[in-house]
Amino acid sequence: MANSQLKPHAILFPLPYQGHINPFVDLAIKLASKGFTITFVHFEFVHQRLSKSQNSNTNNEIDFFSEARKSGLDIRYTTINDGFPREFDRLNNYDEFWKSLLQDFPARVDEFIGEILQFEQSMVTSLIADTFFSWPPTIAKKYNIVNVSFFTQPALVYSIGYHLDILRENGHYPLKESVVEEINYIPGVKSISTKELMHYLKEGEIETLKHKIASRAFQEVKKADFVLDNTVQELESETLDDLNKKQPIYAIGPISSFLTKIIVTKSFWSEFDCTKWLESKPLNSVLYVSFGSLAQTNKHVIQEIAHGLVLSEVNFIWVVRENIVKSDGINTLPDGFKDEIGDKGLIIPWCDQTLVLLNPAVGGFLTHCGWNSTIESILCSTPMICYPIEYDQPAVRKLVVDDWKIGINLHDGDLIHRDEVAKNIRILMTGTDSLGLKQEIEKLKNVLHKAIEKDGSSERNFDHFVEDLKAKIY
Ligand code: UDX
Repeated sequence: MANSQLKPHAILFPLPYQGHINPFVDLAIKLASKGFTITFVHFEFVHQRLSKSQNSNTNNEIDFFSEARKSGLDIRYTTINDGFPREFDRLNNYDEFWKSLLQDFPARVDEFIGEILQFEQSMVTSLIADTFFSWPPTIAKKYNIVNVSFFTQPALVYSIGYHLDILRENGHYPLKESVVEEINYIPGVKSISTKELMHYLKEGEIETLKHKIASRAFQEVKKADFVLDNTVQELESETLDDLNKKQPIYAIGPISSFLTKIIVTKSFWSEFDCTKWLESKPLNSVLYVSFGSLAQTNKHVIQEIAHGLVLSEVNFIWVVRENIVKSDGINTLPDGFKDEIGDKGLIIPWCDQTLVLLNPAVGGFLTHCGWNSTIESILCSTPMICYPIEYDQPAVRKLVVDDWKIGINLHDGDLIHRDEVAKNIRILMTGTDSLGLKQEIEKLKNVLHKAIEKDGSSERNFDHFVEDLKAKIY
């Protein structure tokens, strides 16, 4: 396929969302540090968002990987146009955007990769794309390059997606809203409740694009030559062992900016610096609250959490993203909330999350259980209080609360109420139960840090992946 004297050259293609871009950037750095040449591709609109968050004008000249190159890494950077005008709101026009990504975009990618290959004189050896794209198998095959799928979520979620046919045979896919049952037939997954399956598998979601994207992706990824998963063997060994019998899947996590020293701009929003405020707070006294970059909830939830925070009397930093509630943003907070909290709370639009979690003043994380946030919380040994909203988050909650015992639920009933929110926040931050959570998360933190040491499981898996990839190329 290629001359064995050449360095492996991978084209990296992340999904255009924060929770996917973050691990992709860190994967690029990791691969480059292992001797790969990388061509990193952002959507043009992502490039513009990132440029804006840096307060720079949005020309296409900024190279977000210039620092990486200064450190000797061979990372090239380019952008692809998705066919929509610059000002098109892709988040609020999700269906239109994704319909086009499914139908028209593959032809654009085809042409784009064809051009890179022509320019690079066939030196590109592999395509490493997000699992939620469904075009990579066809394009990789056409250009005779290795198809590597990067799954940025836990193996548990991959396994559910991989075994949709078994769920269907057992009457759990599509998933009836009213059915709450324990599932114990998915290979490598001891037990999971129907409540914890991904929301896009529900009966009411079957006609939606979210379902179409995921079901197609989980079908297509079976054709990938290799799958990389941002998880850790010791965390999900049974699930990974089963999947490995079916397809080469490598647990290479934690891939996280927490561990990458090289600066690459990747935040969609400008980061507020919380350091000064945190310095004024006692050790472990601050609850950090964030629901990631995508999840949207409703005004009732935001208001109950707001009142619950006040009732709990703990210090807190709350990332209230502009679009946390559809078209309502920051105005969803109770009237006079900012005055009421005074210096006990800090409301911010965005921050460098890992920096906040690392601060000794932070003692807990109220999270939506996004996988990156979960990994970052473990790496910083910060116990969690969980409020999963959608996608993989209910499944991650199960791992955090039920399996690993490093977090608790924000509420147990159907409806969220401020008194329960306050009670559970107090349990996390000051209760005697929190000591057990801290002990467990400290153990997992050590597991994660060990995994990426020289002889750790993820480092070994990474090296195996590189060997296996090279064996396929040369
Ligand atoms: C999405 C899905 O919702 C999530 O469930 C899936 O696992 C990945 O894709 P998101 O909701 O954004 O991601 O959550 P998460 O995975 O936690 O990623 C958010 C990222 O944004 C984290 O890396 C976090 O460090 C970063 N972040 C968040 C900031 O840098 N600053 C903030 O203020 C908030």
